[in-house]
Amino acid sequence: MLAHAINFHALNHAADEFASGFASDVREGLTRPGQKELPSKYLYDDVGSALFEVISHLPEYGLTRADERLLQRHACEIVDRLDAPVAVAELGSGSGKKTRWILEALSRRQRTSYYPVEISHAALLMCQRELSDIDSLSIVGFEREYLDGLREVALHRQPNQHLFVLFLGSTIGNFDRPAGVKFLADVRHILEPGDSLLLGTDLEKPTGQLLKAYDDQLGVTAAFNVNLLARINRELDADFDLGQFVHTARINSKSRSVEMHLESKRRQTVRIPAADLRVEFAEGETIWTESSHKYAAQEVFQMAHDSGFCCHAQWIDEQWPFAENLLTAK
Ligand SMILES: C[S@@+](CC[C@H](N)C(=O)[O-])C[C@H]1O[C@@H](n2cnc3c(N)ncnc32)[C@H](O)[C@@H]1O
Repeated sequence: MLAHAINFHALNHAADEFASGFASDVREGLTRPGQKELPSKYLYDDVGSALFEVISHLPEYGLTRADERLLQRHACEIVDRLDAPVAVAELGSGSGKKTRWILEALSRRQRTSYYPVEISHAALLMCQRELSDIDSLSIVGFEREYLDGLREVALHRQPNQHLFVLFLGSTIGNFDRPAGVKFLADVRHILEPGDSLLLGTDLEKPTGQLLKAYDDQLGVTAAFNVNLLARINRELDADFDLGQFVHTARINSKSRSVEMHLESKRRQTVRIPAADLRVEFAEGETIWTESSHKYAAQEVFQMAHDSGFCCHAQWIDEQWPFAENLLTAK
C-alpha cells in the first residue's frame, strides 16, 4: 500500500515577518556590549542548508556518519521500544537522509505520519524529496521554529496516538547546557507521558579532532559561516566585505564546546541599512555565530531527568564518540 501525501505548512505572511525579525536580531547581536553575536539559526538559508549538507559528507565531520551508523544498526530495536501507534516529528530535520532508517522500520509496522519541522525552506524541500519514496508514509512539513512547529504537530495527534520526536545530529549542542535542558523541558511540556524523544549527542573527543571537524581543509565550513554575512548583504542590503572576515573555530574548555567565529581582518565599518545600523569592527574582533557543546555519555541521563524525561536506552558509536539516546516523557 502506497501513501505519499506530501504537504507543506508554510507561513503565508512569513517573508515580511521573518525579515523584520532577522533585522532586529542582527541589530541586537551586533550592538551588544562586549562579544558581538548572531543566532546560529540564521546560518540556514538556501545556501547555508546546501553547504551544511556538504559538510555532512566531509571526512573531518564524522558526526553525521556516526549518527547514521547508529540509526541504521538500531532502528528496529528503537522502533520496537515505542508504544504503538506513533506519529513522528523531527525538529530541524535538514535533508532527513538519516531519518530514513527509522521511518522504514516504522512504516513496515504501521502507516506512519512524519512531520519534519524546519526553519529552512530549502531543507524542508530536500527532506520531502529524500523520503517521499517510503511506502506507507505520509509527510507533512512545517516551516516553523522548533517549538512552534511541535505545538502544531501535537494538534494533529490522533486519539491514543503517541508522538515520537527526533532531534538528531548534535543540534542540542547549539544550546548552552542550561538552555539545552530548558529546551528539552519545553519539548516535554508539549508531549504527553509515554511519548518519546530520540536525542543525538556528540560526545567529548580530542581537541585536534574537534577543531578539524569545524574548520575543514576544503573550506566548506568556512563558506558556511561566511555565508551568514553574505545573507545579511543579500537580505538586509548590508555591505560586509566578505574577504575581510575569516572563519575561525575555537575550543571553549570551560563550556566544553567548539565555537565558530567570524574574525575581522582589519578595522572596518559595515552598513546594514535594513537594520538601521552602522557597525564598527576593530582588527581581530569577532562575531560569535555558533557553539557546539560536547557531552559525557553519562551526562545525558541527568539532562533527561532534569527536563521531565527518563533516558532508558543509549547507543554509542565505536568509531566517532557519539550517542543516540532514547528518552521517554515521564
Ligand atoms: C545542524 S543542522 C542538523 C540537520 C539534521 N538534523 C542532521 O542531523 O544532519 C540543524 C537544522 O535545524 C534547522 N534549524 C536551526 N534552527 C532552527 C529553529 N530554531 N527552528 C527550526 N529549525 C531550525 C536548520 O535549518 C538545520 O537544517
